[in-house]
Amino acid sequence: MTTASAEPIDSLQGGGRVFPPSESFRRDAVAGPELAETASRDRLAFWAEQARALQWQRPFSEVLDWTDAPHARWFADGRLNVAVNCVDRHVLAGDGERVALHWEGEPGDTRTITYSELLGEVSRAANLLADLGVQPGDRVAVYLPMIPEAVIAMLAIARIGAVHSVVFGGFSAESLRARIDDAGAVLVITADGGWRKGSVAPLKPAVDAALALPGEQTVRNVLVVRRGENAVDWSEGRDLWWHEEIAAMDTTHEARAFEAEHPLFILYTSGTTGKPKGILHTSGGYLTQAAFTHRSVFDLKPEQDVYWCTADVGWITGHSYVVYGPLANGATQVLYEGTPDSPDPGRWWSIVERYGVTILYTAPTAIRSFMKAGRAIPDAHDLTSLRLLGSVGEPINPEAWLWYREVIGGGRTPIVDTWWQTETGAIMVSPLPGVTAAKPGAAQTPIPGIGIAVLDESGEPVPAGGGGLLVVTEPWPAMARTIWNDPERFRETYWSTFPGRYFAGDGARLDGDGDLWLLGRVDDVMNVSGHRLSTAEIESALVAHPAVAEAAVVGAADEATGQAIVAFVILRTGAELTDADASPTLRAHVAERIGPIARPARVHVVAELPKTRSGKIMRRLLRDLAEGREVGDTTTLADTGVMRTIQTGMHAD
Ligand code: WTA
Repeated sequence: MTTASAEPIDSLQGGGRVFPPSESFRRDAVAGPELAETASRDRLAFWAEQARALQWQRPFSEVLDWTDAPHARWFADGRLNVAVNCVDRHVLAGDGERVALHWEGEPGDTRTITYSELLGEVSRAANLLADLGVQPGDRVAVYLPMIPEAVIAMLAIARIGAVHSVVFGGFSAESLRARIDDAGAVLVITADGGWRKGSVAPLKPAVDAALALPGEQTVRNVLVVRRGENAVDWSEGRDLWWHEEIAAMDTTHEARAFEAEHPLFILYTSGTTGKPKGILHTSGGYLTQAAFTHRSVFDLKPEQDVYWCTADVGWITGHSYVVYGPLANGATQVLYEGTPDSPDPGRWWSIVERYGVTILYTAPTAIRSFMKAGRAIPDAHDLTSLRLLGSVGEPINPEAWLWYREVIGGGRTPIVDTWWQTETGAIMVSPLPGVTAAKPGAAQTPIPGIGIAVLDESGEPVPAGGGGLLVVTEPWPAMARTIWNDPERFRETYWSTFPGRYFAGDGARLDGDGDLWLLGRVDDVMNVSGHRLSTAEIESALVAHPAVAEAAVVGAADEATGQAIVAFVILRTGAELTDADASPTLRAHVAERIGPIARPARVHVVAELPKTRSGKIMRRLLRDLAEGREVGDTTTLADTGVMRTIQTGMHAD
């Protein structure tokens, strides 16, 4: 390992290791190398071919209309029904007996739902929504735990042409109300409660509180799934039990087709301002890319695979890779309600073993917490069914990548590090198993049909080995069509930095082979004495130290150097490093790994890091601490007390 070579980054990331595509994947991979070639010859013809893998009631003749850029129209004169594509199609093809969902509740109760059964459930729910007066184009808020009804509700809403806005169950009443109001939802589908960490977390009270907040609101009814069996207040005339209403419904529902550009869902995501953005996705293009990427990136064999994506349906990963992608492809999947450590830290691995999971898709933050707990826990389970592992949500540091492959994947499984966003709707950058030689820590290559570039601030492509801003150069089928109620913000946020091109807000580096390394959000990229440095890069170096479990790095304003690097680290349980030794040791360690310019000015040992409910570290709050400011808005933290814990226990050199 060199410390300050000409290419310190490449030698750091993955230690230069490359894993050739495994032969078993190469032989019969869904996405052969020829796909990329076809796509690069004629991008639009390639996407049209992928779209034709869906069932269209009226075939499209036009592929892309970009005349109203940046508001794209894909396959616009075609008509289809998204739910029919995800359910009925498989039943009609004779696969009705295939399991769609192996669901497991946190207390250990289970449900197995075949595609035929799913069709009956979705049809009943669609009939119920229509009975409640929900019209095509109406918005329906979904605030549910990870239970089959979450999937059923989303599909039923799509089936009648209404628009879902799924709000993660961990959001507060106030956040829920803001989302209900912005979308103008007419109905909320919720549950009494859901199981988390061994007890019932109530949901219905938050809906009651949300709807009791002052101001006009649009909700007519609240449909309540019985799950937690906790006591709930009832508003007669407004509230309805799902199980009572659904019992009276017919199990057949004739679905009509909608235009390809018919809105499918709104999903709120946080931006640089305080107000969440309602990202709008539509039907034909979104489903095309969600299905294609799910099939090709995960090498899906629907007859054999048992696929498990651990994301909650409240996030985009749950939309595209729990609901729409896998179901469009007729996959059999696991759905799990609870937390990874209930009732014991081996819960996930016992699920993998019990259902024979073959494909696992999760986030680096989960992998790192398993690393911290130690390999004895997964080692106690038979994980040999796994043949492919996926990662999403943040840059995966090479150490976590190697641990994931070695400990979870038994040293055999390819890993696909998938880069994408709520706004992109589906995977944009990922190695293809059986095609791409894998580099630990790199998302590597745009998927076929996607144009990616790394530009400097003036819009020029950076040379190989250089770092810059990630942009998407061409419109893509699953792209967000707009921000709900705010088309100007859509244009301004994503399309004004480099006119005509989509600015993702992420930094990236291209290595000598042209492979992409994601460096984190550009607002987290620091400038220290004129050198551009990535927080992700330094975090990666820190967690590579055997004593470090997790690390977060921020750039704090500094008179002399512009920004100074400040690190917050959690030490591994039983680490052979005292708190007092940690700072000098780790500063030297980073300097050794990346180079002296990357040496943190300060290293604080902390007990916890501030994270959002989706597991993202909130660096903004750490920056406040590092700059000695009053800590800002903490309402989106999973645990709002964490900043106090950090502040009171902060040690520095
Ligand atoms: C980050 C999640 C590096 C990135 C699907 C992006 C990643 C943001 C990766 C979107 C990855 C996601 N490597 N960074 N494989 N995947 N990101 O909207 O900063 O919740 O802009 O979508 O997560 O987060 P979002």
